[in-house]
Amino acid sequence: MKRSEINRNILDAIDFLREMKFALPPFAFWSPGDWETKGSEYDEIRRNLLGWDLTDFGSGDFNRIGLFLFTIRNGNLFDPGNKKTYAEKILIVNPGQVTPYHYHQSKMEDIINRGGKGVLNVQVYGSLDEHTLDKKSPVPVAVDGRNYRVDAGAIVRLKPGESISLHRGVFHQFWCDDAKLLLGEVSMVNDDKTDNYFLEERGRFPAITEDEAARYLLVSDYV
Ligand SMILES: [Fe+2]
Repeated sequence: MKRSEINRNILDAIDFLREMKFALPPFAFWSPGDWETKGSEYDEIRRNLLGWDLTDFGSGDFNRIGLFLFTIRNGNLFDPGNKKTYAEKILIVNPGQVTPYHYHQSKMEDIINRGGKGVLNVQVYGSLDEHTLDKKSPVPVAVDGRNYRVDAGAIVRLKPGESISLHRGVFHQFWCDDAKLLLGEVSMVNDDKTDNYFLEERGRFPAITEDEAARYLLVSDYV
């Protein structure tokens, strides 16, 4: 992705979050220059990859296969000193944009429709292995305290305020109808380097063409 496209998406997200009255922590608004002044006290942000994150999943077409995220809090599976066992993200999904099938082996997560004007569609399958959907077995889901099974490939539709809990090993893809949505994710510790099993070969962080200066850093810029 071009840095100019990333800058534009972050500025749009800031406007949308303001409109939705969702306030972000101060580090969301640090410039690259501000980051240089932040010492080791802030290593939790860098190590646990808190902050702006957007991805085209290696598709080269963010508007079709992509997701915009901001990680508000997270633990760390590989830091022995880490005591945090949970994570929270805010996500923005645009019409026409899909987050492709994947599952997590370590993380159990809830995806929440936090608002906007539309419905979130979450399509689920069990997994036979990393790259194979289980097209026969019903899938256990929990939707706001209702634990039940849906057919393989069922689409669970979530209105604003509704949420789904996804078990480990359950393939999920999601998209919205025709209006931009604000989603929440509440989960166990998130590790995007090791715990995303995509049905098709995908990248998790975008390759960036630096066509202008970064307004804000992405989590993938910390290293
Ligand atoms: Fe997921």
